[in-house]
Amino acid sequence: MRVFPCIEDLRQRAKHNVPKMFFDYAEAGSYNQETLRANRADFEKLKLRQRILVNVEQRSTATTILGEPVPVPLALGPIGLGGMMHGDGEILACRAAQAMGIPYTLSTMSINSIEDVAAAVDKPFWFQLYVMRDRGFIKELVQRAAAAKCSALMLTVDLQVIGQRHADLRNGLTVPPEFRLKNVIDIMTKPAWALSILKGKRKTFGNLAGHVKDKTNINSLAKWTASQFDPTLNWKDVEWIKSIWPGKLILKGILDVDDAKIAVTTGADAISVSNHGGRQLDGAPSAISMLPRIADAVGSEIEVLMDSGIRTGADMMRALALGARACIVGRSYIYGLGAGGQAGVARAIEILKNELDITMALCGVSRVADIGRDVLASTEEQRRPQ
Ligand code: GLV
Repeated sequence: MRVFPCIEDLRQRAKHNVPKMFFDYAEAGSYNQETLRANRADFEKLKLRQRILVNVEQRSTATTILGEPVPVPLALGPIGLGGMMHGDGEILACRAAQAMGIPYTLSTMSINSIEDVAAAVDKPFWFQLYVMRDRGFIKELVQRAAAAKCSALMLTVDLQVIGQRHADLRNGLTVPPEFRLKNVIDIMTKPAWALSILKGKRKTFGNLAGHVKDKTNINSLAKWTASQFDPTLNWKDVEWIKSIWPGKLILKGILDVDDAKIAVTTGADAISVSNHGGRQLDGAPSAISMLPRIADAVGSEIEVLMDSGIRTGADMMRALALGARACIVGRSYIYGLGAGGQAGVARAIEILKNELDITMALCGVSRVADIGRDVLASTEEQRRPQ
């Protein structure tokens, strides 16, 4: 395999390997992409505190997430259409995560189904749920996740309606791709990708097979989402989900202190502070900028995870410093998947783990439990967030 020193190199390779419409789907933010850019810019603004002459020989990035030991405070988040970045993409990403000992989250909008992944791996994974209008189908999906022994359900709470991603419209994103001249030419220049997709188990949304009788309906993702996803979803439904799900529950997509406080009262086990990777409300603040207030507001009553913008171990350090127990990544590993299948995802995880380890050392910290706000520098511009 090529040398990939950092996530950006995996990204470049994925861009080279994967047809434009699928790469762009993963890459895009909504509308003007202000929130997408803020996610990155606000991480980079947070300066770390360089400490010297501390013995950091014995270090560990190990911790726990939802009570389970992990070698690094990291989980792979749900990515729709993962199996369009590489054939059997969800199976490969799950295998990579499990080999590294971290959780993997299968999206409702995956290509491999819950059962495909469960049959291909030997440890439990997490399942992400989108709530659709057809509650009978949602109940079935939750039961399928329980039957597959998924250990946590991640309910996405910030996508009752979908924020428009202009690239998807410009590219005419469909699943599977339509045989339009532009797409055919693009795919012809990506033979390794085409072969991997041909060899993959499925070419469309595995979890929804059978549910959507008319295949053409599913072709326009945005239209399909608009017709199927339930805009009435509200806090009462969280109670309902909790009543039909026997395992751990994570609410992903909390960006507001008041919402975080309500989340605590639902009895959910964790929240993820998130703006959906800048893919939903454009103009919303970055997730990292909201994290400290939310973490302070909920205290130790619920586990706080965060996602949206993490590309480096230094970003993980910043998130842990501001109150996250662990980080969830999406694009960072999906680039690895597009770059090199399972090995690419494994490399993405390794990059983040190694970068966190060295960042800790250079901040004079040896244990994840010792990462607090005091690892942030007290610069002129940066008053340490209190
Ligand atoms: C779905 O989760 C999306 O962001 O496209």
